[in-house]
Amino acid sequence: ASGLHTLAKAAGKLYFGTATDNPELTDTAYVAKLDDNKEFGQITPGNSMKWDATEPERGTFTFSAGDVIANLAKTNGQLLRGHNCVWYNQLPSWVANGQFTAADLTDVIQTHCGTLVGHYKDSWDVINEPFNDDGTWRSDVFYNTLGTQFVPIALQAARAADPNAKLYINDYNIEQQGAKATAMLNLVKQLQADGVPIDGVGFQCHFIVGEVPGTFQETLEQFTALGVEVAITELDIRMTLPSTDALLAQQEKDYQTVVQACMNVDGCVGITIWDWTDKYSWVPSTFPGQGAACPWDENFNKKPAYSGIVAALA
Ligand code: G3I
Repeated sequence: ASGLHTLAKAAGKLYFGTATDNPELTDTAYVAKLDDNKEFGQITPGNSMKWDATEPERGTFTFSAGDVIANLAKTNGQLLRGHNCVWYNQLPSWVANGQFTAADLTDVIQTHCGTLVGHYKDSWDVINEPFNDDGTWRSDVFYNTLGTQFVPIALQAARAADPNAKLYINDYNIEQQGAKATAMLNLVKQLQADGVPIDGVGFQCHFIVGEVPGTFQETLEQFTALGVEVAITELDIRMTLPSTDALLAQQEKDYQTVVQACMNVDGCVGITIWDWTDKYSWVPSTFPGQGAACPWDENFNKKPAYSGIVAALA
């Protein structure tokens, strides 16, 4: 067998996948590799299903960009991950700056989540990044208006729209033991106690070379012990540029370590990288001077990191 998705399936996982984004789809050499469902059995849209893209005005839904990616995945026989329904970032101003009563914002969330999850019937990051790094709730229009209730409101609307969708909460810096992972564990327990639908927790895994947390597998196991599934949803491992042979060798080990943690945990269903090539990584624009975070380089050549992933999947 060859190809990351083929190997992941053979090892009992549901998928190995990648994020992509609409602007990249004009690059035919890029699309040719994205279309290879032996490498990628699952696709997550990097931007085009976010709130600013899908409901720019209240009640006006635009699915054109998201549909391009959903249709690409369908044509290729790839699973889709909806990303995302409720997030503090990339909100249209009518949401971000809106003055809502609790009842009104409840209606806004129900309409948004219900419409999205009804339109794209697949796994969904229903809630994205609800916590600060210290485990407190992020101060945004949702929390400030509704308290923690925005979470069950969104999850219940998603479940009503599609009883079969896997409904996730997705976050970063929950991969290691600490206040943020504990806050997420407690949220899952509370939702379960309250009878709110929650199927999975997504671990974004935006890591730094040489700094993959040693307690990642243990953390995954704490969540699967609650009866939810887990997934690696946005994996990349960045370095300070320029890349060197030593950094690329460490990155190979780091990719292997992360993928191995998922392999070792039955309830870890799949792995998604946050784009497969350095050419389209989000990292350099957000962290100037850093990059080279993906398993393929800017010229679409496999890096040592690719071998690290294969070593864990094989
Ligand atoms: O759409 C505008 C365009 O009109 C404008 O000309 C251009 C000029 O800068 O900006 C475009 O918006 C950019 C958008 O991506 C679409 O390309 C934003 O500036 C840019 O900030 C935005 O970045 C995205 C980022 O989320 C925003 O937070 C990245 O592409 C996307 O990969 C990244 O993904 C997030 C996940 O959703 C959640 N987890 C973290 C992850 C990495 O930050």
